[in-house]
Amino acid sequence: MNRLVILASGSGSNAENIIQYFKKHTSIIVTSVVSNRKDAFVLERAKKLNIPHVYFPKKAFFEDNLVLNHLVKNADYVILAGFLLKIPKNIVKAFPNRIINIHPALLPKFGGKGMYGMHVHNAVKEQGETETGITIHYVNEHYDEGAPIFQATTPVLKTDSPEDIAANIHLLEQTNFPRVIEEAIL
Ligand code: GRF
Repeated sequence: MNRLVILASGSGSNAENIIQYFKKHTSIIVTSVVSNRKDAFVLERAKKLNIPHVYFPKKAFFEDNLVLNHLVKNADYVILAGFLLKIPKNIVKAFPNRIINIHPALLPKFGGKGMYGMHVHNAVKEQGETETGITIHYVNEHYDEGAPIFQATTPVLKTDSPEDIAANIHLLEQTNFPRVIEEAIL
């Protein structure tokens, strides 16, 4: 079995979609969900779906090895689904080419510090982009700079609001993320 641990900080719609997709999979299994935010909705989603879930404070990621130990014990691959902390070096080192992130833009555009959630879609709108999309990529020590695995695009119409863009991105994420994870692993 290829075991996945999902790291997420927010709502967790991607996490839920991934959990559902692999529920009856013969060789890939989600073993747990980890969040750095105690009140993240992703933890409730995991609970409802009967997936072990755990909150770790920032300190557990950076100052001691609690998260690293959890991952080493439970994961062959680490999936970042809306996870907002930078991944500590010791975790990157322990999982070379085994950490996969999704970014809601066409990297290298609109990546880096501060580029998450609506900040990304607002920037896309402000810069008058005619298309945007998603990037699924491996994670290295630099923010949003690991090798790309997959990109998909969606047009941005002049009449689209940042919220419209967000909705289109959401659709691309739901359609592609689990399948791309599956292909990257198998
Ligand atoms: C997604 O847009 C993802 O690309 C980004 O954060 C968002 C997470 O949404 N990295 P959700 O928590 O999965 O609903």
